[in-house]
Amino acid sequence: MTNTPLRVLILGAASGIAQAAARLYAGEGAIIGLAARNENQLGAIAADLRVRGASRVETFEIDFTAAEATTTLADWVARLGGMDHVVLAYGLLGDQSAAEHDAQAAAAIIDVNFRSAALWSLAVADMLESQGRGSLVVLGSVAGDRGRRSNCIYGAAKAGIATLVQGIAHRFSDHGPRAVIVKPGPTDTAMTAGMTKGGPLWSTPEAVAAIIRKAADRGGPVVYAPGRWWLIMTIIRNIPAVIFNKMNF
Ligand SMILES: NC(=O)c1ccc[n+]([C@@H]2O[C@H](COP(=O)([O-])OP(=O)(O)OC[C@H]3O[C@@H](n4cnc5c(N)ncnc54)[C@H](OP(=O)(O)O)[C@@H]3O)[C@@H](O)[C@H]2O)c1
Repeated sequence: MTNTPLRVLILGAASGIAQAAARLYAGEGAIIGLAARNENQLGAIAADLRVRGASRVETFEIDFTAAEATTTLADWVARLGGMDHVVLAYGLLGDQSAAEHDAQAAAAIIDVNFRSAALWSLAVADMLESQGRGSLVVLGSVAGDRGRRSNCIYGAAKAGIATLVQGIAHRFSDHGPRAVIVKPGPTDTAMTAGMTKGGPLWSTPEAVAAIIRKAADRGGPVVYAPGRWWLIMTIIRNIPAVIFNKMNF
């Protein structure tokens, strides 16, 4: 038994859910790598995590969609002294009504939530496979479980990343590493700022973070956050189209 602190890399560290997850890791005394695109935000989040007990916090400034961005992963892992958990949390909800008629807006949603997330997941999977252990937790969404008129571009990208992460979990199934797609329902963060919140379907970032933290140790390949979304989405997926198409959501 060693006392080496857990080493965790958080991709999209400024996300509300990611910050709540990072606070859990800090409380465990982890060594934390924070990757995000805003240097000032990174500094403030890192300072907070140090106060909360993180052994060490390193910050990495990045736009995850940039060309060749994943080539930096090996350097980050070296800076952290190895890697135990990677949490991929960045995402972009976008504006579906605009993106339906604007290829650039649609491309941005697909690029962040699928293309880039897929490339980072594959890069992390290679890294975990080469070391023979560690966890990759990727944030998908219940929106990926059935296409709806109000958010099907985002939902399609989340469905794509969920399929990829399930495949990585399958690839890992007979050896050490773990891959998990965590699918939150509506959660009170900046991403949902314009929505009416409250009621039984809404979660806090802290509640979702606790599920992410647990999933990194023993979850997979698919985890709903909170778990009741498994039942809700099973029902929604099975509503006949003739009824579903009359529903306005
Ligand atoms: N909140 C929900 O209801 C909900 C539900 C289901 C799933 N999810 C998923 O859970 C994850 C976390 O969501 P959240 O609610 O915590 O979101 P959030 O607070 O809105 O944070 C999203 C983060 O992604 C970052 N980001 C987007 N594109 C980026 C890029 N190209 N490079 C670097 N960073 C980028 C944003 O950076 P900036 O701050 O620099 O813009 C932002 O910090 C996302 O994958 C989201 O899709 C959320």
